[in-house]
Amino acid sequence: METLRLVPYPRKIRINEGFCSASVQAVQTLIEPMGEEYSIKIRPDGIEIKGGSAGLRYAGLTLRLLREQFGDKLPCLSIEDGPVMRSRGFMLDVCRHFMPTEQIKRLLDAAALLKLNRFHWHLTDDQGWRLEIKSWPELTRTGAVRGRSAFGICDPEQSNDGYYTQEEVRDIVRYAQERDIETIPEIEIPGHASAMLAAYPWLGCELPDRDSAEIGRSAGIFDRLLCAGKDESIAFIKDVLREVTALFPSKYVHIGGDEALKLRWRRCPCCKRRMKALGITSEDALQRWLVLEIGAYLSQLGKETIVWNDALEGGELPPYFIVQFWRGNPEAAKRHAAAGGRMIDSDTAYAYLDYPFHRIDAWKILSAPQADYAVLPGFLGAEFPLWTEYVADFKTAGRQLFPRLAAGAERAWRGDGNMKDSFGDRWEAYIPKIEALGIRPAPPETWHMDADSARRDRERFEQQRQCPEYLRAMAVKTHLHDQDRMERLMQRIGLREDTLRMLSDYCYGGLDGSRKKALELAFPGIGELAEKLDRAAAAWEAGKWDDDEEQVLMDALKPYCPTGEALFTAVGRQENEENRTAG
Ligand code: ACM
Ligand code: ZN
Repeated sequence: METLRLVPYPRKIRINEGFCSASVQAVQTLIEPMGEEYSIKIRPDGIEIKGGSAGLRYAGLTLRLLREQFGDKLPCLSIEDGPVMRSRGFMLDVCRHFMPTEQIKRLLDAAALLKLNRFHWHLTDDQGWRLEIKSWPELTRTGAVRGRSAFGICDPEQSNDGYYTQEEVRDIVRYAQERDIETIPEIEIPGHASAMLAAYPWLGCELPDRDSAEIGRSAGIFDRLLCAGKDESIAFIKDVLREVTALFPSKYVHIGGDEALKLRWRRCPCCKRRMKALGITSEDALQRWLVLEIGAYLSQLGKETIVWNDALEGGELPPYFIVQFWRGNPEAAKRHAAAGGRMIDSDTAYAYLDYPFHRIDAWKILSAPQADYAVLPGFLGAEFPLWTEYVADFKTAGRQLFPRLAAGAERAWRGDGNMKDSFGDRWEAYIPKIEALGIRPAPPETWHMDADSARRDRERFEQQRQCPEYLRAMAVKTHLHDQDRMERLMQRIGLREDTLRMLSDYCYGGLDGSRKKALELAFPGIGELAEKLDRAAAAWEAGKWDDDEEQVLMDALKPYCPTGEALFTAVGRQENEENRTAG
């Protein structure tokens, strides 16, 4: 018999003799404990379906597709099916580019066709705060208004202002629920906070440029964080989360935690005071403290907390935290799972649907190796994010999502990609349904790229990126990341804090001309030292650090250690000298 045109493909199918008329009504039996599992029995004299409430919907959907495939004469068969992964989701970033609720509903309809059960709604980021919070109205009054901003590559004609009222959120949550999809909100802390700080600058760190916080108008990373040192900032985020938890019935709340470069925390007196009071010495540990604090609060509200795996950089988190892995340290993620923690897998190598097709195509998703932690009991499942820096409209979103999300849904349902050879044929049955939702999926040449189409896709992709907005955003991102990396290295080798700051500012442009010159005159070797530090930091990050290298670096830094006194005296002397000559 021909392959059933189903995505995800059922896990257990037995084909029997004979046929049943397709007009026969199925007898349904609800068996709540079956949850998402279902069975279908097609016999010459009747059709029987069983399942939990989600399972029955899946059975009905499967049956409808079988009727479409076989027409009048349904082959007799039995299907026993259910998902391997409890959690099978997609994430939508509505911050970089806003998406009206009517379009989100169409994506939920499409996700329901693929038996997905989670919608992770990324509601706050540098470039937009998209959720109405009644007690903090400026969040959307300022934070949801970006106007027309060119991110490069995609350049929307229209402004990108917009947010969801609480009524609209309830409507989406309900709409998803009716399709057995749970909506999980994400409110990002402490990073990706520019829109939040544009609304309420005093929530940021106590630094001279605090008031210049503005909403992000390009892609990339920004260095502004919620201040972890101020009680008011902690109270603010709890207040926001109280409204959020009242709005979303899901037992999960995602609090982000990714890409929080600690440059500003390292310089903020409030954050330093908090660290001192807590007896912790690294800013990553301060993030861990913040995560624990907020996690405890959410727990009081009856919720469980999800974080991106970057939050493990400050040390292990208790197992009641759910960690979503995207990239970075898989060992730390594995340790979390091994200690009984729960994990969601969104590895950038296989799951990122904003990536171009030559990097991730449907075939690659179906062929992905199993994550180490996927066999552990705390493994919840897979999620496929769509970040929208370069997805400005619904048309592009549809193309990025489909059919790759279908491949992801199959992977998550079955736990394997064993049916990948027939994926394309089976997916074709879904195209008219997806198109009926106004979504145009990506064409067949993107499903499993041969060398030629991959080369063309890569060339197109690289050419698109040769625009000033994109290059600028990437340069800023690299700059901030390199600076953070160098500061981490200097902390590790125990450099005095003010020396660290001066060297970092020297290397990364935080010094005005005269101070920079004073430093160069006081220490003629500083340029060379800066280069050495930079190289060492890169080697350290790449895991090529060894004790010898550390020793060489320590030796080079000795003149600036142990107190850094000599450096500051020399710079001070030089500055006085300059002032006198200038005067
Ligand atoms: C992420 O992609 N920044 C989690
Ligand atoms: Zn601070």
